[in-house]
Amino acid sequence: MNAITIRQLNESDAQQVSSLLQCCFDYLEENGFFPTGLLEGQRNIYTETKIMSLIQNPSTVGCGAFSGGRLVGFLWGTRSHGMLYLEWGGVAPEFRRRGIYTRLLRTVEEETARLGCHKLWFFTSEQNTPGIRAYIKQGYTIEGRHPKHFLKGSFLSIGKVVAAEAQPIAA
Ligand SMILES: CC(C)(COP(=O)(O)OP(=O)(O)OC[C@H]1O[C@@H](n2cnc3c(N)ncnc32)[C@H](O)[C@@H]1OP(=O)(O)O)[C@@H](O)C(=O)NCCC(=O)NCCS
Repeated sequence: MNAITIRQLNESDAQQVSSLLQCCFDYLEENGFFPTGLLEGQRNIYTETKIMSLIQNPSTVGCGAFSGGRLVGFLWGTRSHGMLYLEWGGVAPEFRRRGIYTRLLRTVEEETARLGCHKLWFFTSEQNTPGIRAYIKQGYTIEGRHPKHFLKGSFLSIGKVVAAEAQPIAA
């Protein structure tokens, strides 16, 4: 088996990120981890073209996990107001529970701090228990519960301060 390499995403990864994200949407939908209607909207948003523009955006911080040339995990977020909003991340089904997402999170956290952002945060569905556990294990805390939120589902806002004294560098 190939070793897993973590590196920054580049434009040549856009197609693989888009298709792995669609595969993650399938998993979340099949297991009832997200409101179905919300995932349908997300599927339409995150085309290869959209992912390409995100990768090109200097506000984006993103990385991928690779086995040989194959993308097997990814995570990206967008810098704004001194924070990084984590947008989407996931790992290919046959590569899960091997610590790949943990490695991706650490890499994005380090880059976030390096760029002067003090904190990472995101929203997720309260139903997404595996996703929430992965973050809690890395020291993230649930900062808010938002009942009857997106499409009437309950969502959690989750965050972690990674560099309390950081001063943001312009994107
Ligand atoms: C959530 C996800 C990204 C985890 O990826 P992963 O590479 O398997 O995560 P890791 O191996 O680093 O696991 C870290 C911890 O998360 C928790 N975890 C991960 N998957 C879990 C599962 N299916 N059930 C319960 N806990 C789980 C465990 O605490 C795990 O530590 P452990 O294996 O030592 O018990 C993956 O399941 C996935 O792609 N899900 C679909 C997309 C998604 O939910 N993205 C996150 C949106 S918030």
